[in-house]
Amino acid sequence: MIPHVPVAARALAAFARRFGGKPTVLGRAPGRVNLVGEHVDYSDGLVLPMSIDRDCVSAVRVSTDGRWRAWSEDLRSLAELPDPAAAARSPRATGDTAWSNLALGVLAGFAREGVRVPPLEMAFASDVPLGAGLSSSAAFTVSLATAVAEVLSAPLFGIPMARMCQEAESEFGGVPCGILDPLSSALGRADHAMLVDCRSLDVRFVPFPPSSRVSLLVFDSGVHRSLSDGRYAERRHEVEDAARAAGVGMLRDLDETKLRTLKLPALLERRARHVVREIQRVQLAANALRRDDMELFGLFMAQSHQSLRDDFAVSTPELDALVDEARALGTAGGVYGARLTGAGFGGSVIVLADATRAGIGERISAGFERRFKRPAGWQRVSSGPGAAVIPAARWPAA
Ligand code: GLA
Repeated sequence: MIPHVPVAARALAAFARRFGGKPTVLGRAPGRVNLVGEHVDYSDGLVLPMSIDRDCVSAVRVSTDGRWRAWSEDLRSLAELPDPAAAARSPRATGDTAWSNLALGVLAGFAREGVRVPPLEMAFASDVPLGAGLSSSAAFTVSLATAVAEVLSAPLFGIPMARMCQEAESEFGGVPCGILDPLSSALGRADHAMLVDCRSLDVRFVPFPPSSRVSLLVFDSGVHRSLSDGRYAERRHEVEDAARAAGVGMLRDLDETKLRTLKLPALLERRARHVVREIQRVQLAANALRRDDMELFGLFMAQSHQSLRDDFAVSTPELDALVDEARALGTAGGVYGARLTGAGFGGSVIVLADATRAGIGERISAGFERRFKRPAGWQRVSSGPGAAVIPAARWPAA
C-alpha cells in the first residue's frame, strides 16, 4: 500500500524554501473518484463523484518584487508567469513549466471577473497522484482559486469558482473537460457522494457508508496519460457528432428507444448508447446507494465499466485486468464492484469492498502482477471534504 503523507506541511516548507517566510493563505482542494457517470458531464448528464482525502495545497502571498512566481514541489519546477491581466495575449509555457499554464488560467479567470491580480508568490504540493484519473488538475486549480480568492478578498466560490477552473483547464490546459472534476473538488462533502445534474448544476448529497464498513481501494494501472494528448477531445467530438446526427442539442435529451430507431453510423451509435445508458445508471446507482445496497451498486459499476470498454472504448488491457481480478473475487470474496474512474485511457480503477475483509488489495495486485510482471500500486482512500481555506491556527509546523 502507498503511504499517505500530510501535504500542508510540505506546501509550507516548500514556500519557505523558495520564497522565504510564510504564505498569507493556504488553500486546499481534494481529488475525487467518480463512482459512476463517466463521459456524460459534457452531455449535460448525471454524475456521482465523491471528493477524497487526498489534497492539493496552494500556499499564496502577495509578492513585493513585482513578479508572479509559482513553484511545484511535486514537479520540482519554478515558473514565472506573465501578468494575468494580459494572459490572453501571452504565449503559453512549454516543456518543464507547461504545468504553470493552469495556474495562469486561474489567475486570468480572476482578472476576467474584474479582480486586480497583484504579483504573487505561490507554492503547491499535492498528494493526489498525477495523471492517475483522480483529478489532480482540478485539485490544483480549485486549491489555487480558493487561496487566491481569500488573499484578494474576491467573492468567488462554489459553482462560479468551479466554472472558472473548468475554463482554465480548457483554455490554458488544452483539455476541453466538463464540470465534473472542479465541481466535486469545490463542493464535495466528507462521508457523502454527490449526485450532480450537469445541466442544472443541482447537487444532492448521498451518504456514503463509513470506511469501517466499505473500503474504497484505488489501483493505479501504471499507464499515465495526459488528457491533452487529444483522445479525450476526440471522444467529445464524437459525442457532439452523435447528438447532431440524432437531432438533439445534447445526448441527455435522447432515450434508448429513440436511439434504436435512428440507425446512426455504428461508431456514433455505440458512443451515444454509452452516454444514454450511463445517465440512467447514475440515477439507479444513486438510489441503490441511498438504500445502502452495495451489491446492487456494484452491479451498476460493473455495467458502467463494460460500457466504457465496449461502447465508449476508453479502457485499456491494464484497467480491464484490474477490474477482472476484482470481479473474480466477487461478493463472496468481499468485493462489491469495480470500474475504471475518470476519463480512462489509463489511470485508475476503483474497487468498493467489504472493509471487514482483509487482503483484497493484495490479491488484486498479485493477480495483476501475474499478468503484467509488475505490481499495481494501490491505496485505500476515504471520502474527504471539499475545498476550503486552512485556518492559520491549524497550520502544521513547517
Ligand atoms: C475527465 C474530465 C471530466 C469528465 C471525465 C470523464 O476527468 O475532466 O470532465 O469528462 O474525464 O467522466
